[in-house]
Amino acid sequence: MYPENRLEDALGRLGQRRSVKAMDICEPGPGPDDLQMILTIGARVPDHGKLGPWRFICFQDDARIDFGNILAERYKDLNPEAKPKNIVAERNRLTRAPVVVCVVADVKPHAKIPEWEQQLSVGAVCQNILVAASLAGYAAQWLTEWYAFDPVINGALQLLSSERVAGFIYLGSAAEKPAERVRPELQDRLTHWSAPKDTNT
Ligand SMILES: Cc1cc2nc3c(=O)[nH]c(=O)nc-3n(C[C@H](O)[C@H](O)[C@H](O)COP(=O)(O)O)c2cc1C
Repeated sequence: MYPENRLEDALGRLGQRRSVKAMDICEPGPGPDDLQMILTIGARVPDHGKLGPWRFICFQDDARIDFGNILAERYKDLNPEAKPKNIVAERNRLTRAPVVVCVVADVKPHAKIPEWEQQLSVGAVCQNILVAASLAGYAAQWLTEWYAFDPVINGALQLLSSERVAGFIYLGSAAEKPAERVRPELQDRLTHWSAPKDTNT
C-alpha cells in the first residue's frame, strides 16, 4: 500500500509537474535501476487488446554523440547553407541530457483495435514516463523536433516501415525549478452532460 504521506507528495508533485527544457537539463540522469523503473511504469498504460505497440531506444554516454554526428550530417544535407553554429547544435542535441529515450510507436491496422486507440496508448506511455520521472525526482521533456520525422534518421534508428517516433524523452535533473506555464482553465473545458429537455411535453 502506498504510504499516506507519499501519496500527498505524489499529488503535490503532479499538481506542479512541469517539463524542464532539454537545454536546462543537467546531470545526474537516472541510473540503470531508476531508468528501468521509469520505463516499466511508463509502459504500464491502458492498452486495448494488449498489443503493446511501442518500444524504447535508449541513448546514453557516447551513443548520444554518435547519434548527434548523424543528425549533424543529415542537417547539413538538408540545409547546405547551414551556419557552423547550427551544425554544432545538431551534433550536441542529445548531449543536452544525460539520458534520452526514443519512444517508438508501431501502430498497425488491426481487426478490432483502431489505430487511433493504439496511438493514444503510445502517447500515454510517453506521458507516464514524464510522470514516473517527475515522481522519482528527475527532470524530463518530451520532444520531437525535426529528427523525429526524418526518413534518413528513421533509418539510422533502424525503424521498421510500420514504426515511427512518438518522441525523444530527455531525462536528467533540473538545476532550477521551471517557471509555471499557462494552463487552460478547467471551467473552460468542462461541461456536465444532461439529457436534452423534451420541448414537446
Ligand atoms: C508529441 C509532443 C511533441 C513535442 N515536441 C516538442 C518540440 O519538438 N519542441 C518543443 O519545444 N516542445 C515540444 N513539445 C512540448 C513539450 O514537451 C512540453 O509540452 C512543453 O515544454 C510544456 O510541458 P509541460 O506542460 O509538461 O510543462 C512536445 C509535446 C508533445 C506532446
